Amino acid sequence: MLAAIYPGSFDPITNGHLSLIQRGLEVFDRVVVAIASNPDKQAALFSVEERRQLIREACPDPRVEVDDFHGLLVEYAKRKGVHVILRGLRAVSDFEYEFQMANMNRTLDPKVETVFMMTGEDYFYISSRIVREVASLGGNVKGMVPPNVHHKLQARFGGRE
Ligand code: PNS
Repeated sequence: MLAAIYPGSFDPITNGHLSLIQRGLEVFDRVVVAIASNPDKQAALFSVEERRQLIREACPDPRVEVDDFHGLLVEYAKRKGVHVILRGLRAVSDFEYEFQMANMNRTLDPKVETVFMMTGEDYFYISSRIVREVASLGGNVKGMVPPNVHHKLQARFGGRE
C-alpha cells in the first residue's frame, strides 16, 4: 500500500485541492489529507474541526483519510509511517516556496520525499487565500469550492448566489 500525505492549511479546501486529491489517488493507494494546525499561522477563517468536517464531506472516498497535526510535518509523517508528501504546483510563483519546503523537509528527514503534481489548468488561479478574500467581500466563489464550503462561506459572509 503506497500512501501519500497531502499537507496544507485547507482554510478552506478548494476545488483545486480536490482535483489534486483525485489525481493523487490515481498514483497512490491512500491519501492522508493533513491539516496543519500550527498556532503561529495567521488567524484562520475556519477552526481545524470545521476544516476537517468540510474536507470529509467533500471527500467521502474511503481511500482518503482526513487528519490534523501540530509541529513538524516530517515528525507527523514518521508517526504515520508515510514517507511521501504530495503537493500541488500551480504556477512558477509557487516554485520557490515549495522548493524550500521540500528541501527543508528532506534535510530534516532524508527518508521523506516530496512529489509534485501540476494543478489542473481550470484551477491554477484558485487559492484558499483568494477564496477567503473574495467571499469575505461578498463575491461569488461558486465553482471554485465544493458546495458545502460555498454554503459555509455564505453563512459566514452572506454574498451573491
Ligand atoms: O496550504 P499551505 O499553507 O501552503 O501549507 C503549508 C504547510 C502546512 C504544508 C507547511 O507550512 C507545513 O508543513 N507546516 C508544518 C510545519 C513544518 O513542518 N514546517 C517546516 C516545513 S518547511
